[in-house]
Amino acid sequence: MKKKVFITRSILSAGIDLMKDKGFEVEMSSIDRPLTYSELVEKARHFDALITMLGDRIDANFLEQNKHLKVISNYAVGFNNIDIEKARSLQIAIGNTPDVLTEATAEVALGLMISAARNFHSSQTSAAQGLWRCWSPTDHLGHALSNKTLGVIGFGRIGHRLAEMASAAFKMRVIYTARTLKTNSFNAEKVSMEELLKRSDFISIHVPLTSDTRKFISERELGLMKSSVVLVNTSRGEIIDQVALIRALKNKKIFAAGLDVTDPEPLPIDSELFLLSNAFILPHIGSATFEARSEMSLMAAENVIAGLEGGELKGRVV
Ligand code: NAP
Ligand code: GLV
Ligand code: GLV
Repeated sequence: MKKKVFITRSILSAGIDLMKDKGFEVEMSSIDRPLTYSELVEKARHFDALITMLGDRIDANFLEQNKHLKVISNYAVGFNNIDIEKARSLQIAIGNTPDVLTEATAEVALGLMISAARNFHSSQTSAAQGLWRCWSPTDHLGHALSNKTLGVIGFGRIGHRLAEMASAAFKMRVIYTARTLKTNSFNAEKVSMEELLKRSDFISIHVPLTSDTRKFISERELGLMKSSVVLVNTSRGEIIDQVALIRALKNKKIFAAGLDVTDPEPLPIDSELFLLSNAFILPHIGSATFEARSEMSLMAAENVIAGLEGGELKGRVV
């Protein structure tokens, strides 16, 4: 019997071709929305492996009802949507896609730093509203990146790559927090969270979402930051207390925020964040390049193949 793989959303074809070449039967969801939780619980019963998206909730109940699965390959590097301990206890392999999206996501973080610091959102809006009457010597003033201090919270693959870009392109000084000391070629300095919050001109968040990092940035942390700081988040929305962030942006306690991730996602259109001139919001597009998404397709498929054939997953979480 052919092994059966279900992909919960339509993905680029590289990985699908690979799995078909291996002789697997591959079905891909053709509807233009995520399956609901109960649709996915039911659907998974008929397959040996899944390729899941970061919004698919793979909790203990889902896994309990689908213990027959050999492998779940998440089409993302983050895996906070999956109950890892439960998967481990049921011996279901869990894969992810590290490295291949590092460049794409670091580019978005750098883009958000520039966009938020240089008022891209409010400037574009004012021009489109007919307020661009003449060149102005004093309108739309923002903060330079060059020679400033960048604080990276979570100096892993993406945080390190962003720091490298900022250091090379803008001669930024880099300070970071992580649980362990990291080597780097641009004199980035490991500091305490408090020191990072106080010293940074730009702060970019790159820790994974875990029980330790949920609401990592709340009222107290925002209060320690400089009023000129630009805060960027490309990790997960829940790492910031969004109510506290909105208050800080409104009261100009911080200069601006650039967010690729929000809490919840999608961000409701009536969210106050969309009304703030100092918030620059993207709809979670960090890995959305043709290059990264194609490599993610391949890597997610390779993880499925390894999981079904008893090999070692390249991106193995469990
Ligand atoms: P990574 O290489 O695992 O880096 C995570 C870093 O966070 C590590 O340096 C780790 O430090 C640090 N860390 C973990 N827990 C911490 C804690 N409690 N306190 C301080 N530091 C902590 O992961 P990555 O590949 O860079 O990805 C990071 C995250 O980005 C993913 O988890 C995902 O949520 C997000 N992401 C978003 C997009 C997007 O589209 N916006 C795309 C890709 C990824 P140690 O090494 O010392 O443990
Ligand atoms: C995207 O957010 C990812 O975790 O890959
Ligand atoms: C601006 O466009 C300048 O020429 O300084």
